[in-house]
Amino acid sequence: MSARILDGAQVARQIRAEVAAEVKELQQRVGRPPGLTVILVGEDPASVVYIRNKARAAEKIGIRSSVIRLPETSTEAQILAAVQRLNQDAEIDGILVQLPLPRGMASDAILEAIDPDKDVDGFHPHNVGRLALGRSGFVPCTPAGIVELLRRNDIPLEGRHAVVLGRSNIVGKPMAQLLLAAHATVTVCHSRTRDLAAVARGADILVAAVGRKGMVTEEFVRPGAVVVDVGIHPVEGEDEARDLFGDSPRLEKFREKGTALVGDVHPRRVRDVAGWLSPVPGGVGPLTVALLLRNTLQAAQQRT
Ligand code: GUN
Repeated sequence: MSARILDGAQVARQIRAEVAAEVKELQQRVGRPPGLTVILVGEDPASVVYIRNKARAAEKIGIRSSVIRLPETSTEAQILAAVQRLNQDAEIDGILVQLPLPRGMASDAILEAIDPDKDVDGFHPHNVGRLALGRSGFVPCTPAGIVELLRRNDIPLEGRHAVVLGRSNIVGKPMAQLLLAAHATVTVCHSRTRDLAAVARGADILVAAVGRKGMVTEEFVRPGAVVVDVGIHPVEGEDEARDLFGDSPRLEKFREKGTALVGDVHPRRVRDVAGWLSPVPGGVGPLTVALLLRNTLQAAQQRT
């Protein structure tokens, strides 16, 4: 039997509707909308697409958004100056510095310059520490979105074994913290983990955030497990599409369009083993954007 789909687009719509109602209420109460500014340094094509999606989603629900585009050749001092200006701007509630920054740039110093009360990405050490302590603060959008996806599909976490593949600061580590806070038993794996597939097979809930296309195959998945796919990669060529999709409507679509996206999970090899699966696209991606809007609303509510 095929895995049930964890529909991220649907959950994201619900969250956006909830946020929109509160944005309206805030606008009436304080006479201005929540304000979000994204800083993009350079021209990374994926980042350009991401921030366009973020800005459009914000505008649609009444959050005022703007983008500061700085050239790839900017100095750290120029970026810090932009952050400091936004820190002082009373109408800006949320500041997001799009990652990755150009090679060689000290992202730590830049992320630490953001006012923690405007840190809607939850990447400032102040908010990272609050999450680790189980105190309220800003939670990184992707892992927060995954918890919503599981909760709103009535997937219990308490007492369950959750295995997180990947230990990044953006996804893996905060994901582990949130799952712990929800009373799951958590294992975090990474590139040096021995017998990764065997560890993953112990999971009731498996979160794949390794950044390797189609790496999670049937050997990683206990029958019936919940599999959440955080990766996003372009499919390259028909042979790869056939391997990833098998004879399915997705292969047909790839033939028509010549492009497709796939995650860290191998869709053909996992779909009949997992109990639940979040697809790529349409799983975690839309939730990351929805949670950014919710964090921006939270920032505005706390500041007004
Ligand atoms: N790049 C990829 N994902 C993210 C994210 O969630 N926030 C930021 N700032 N950059 C990213």
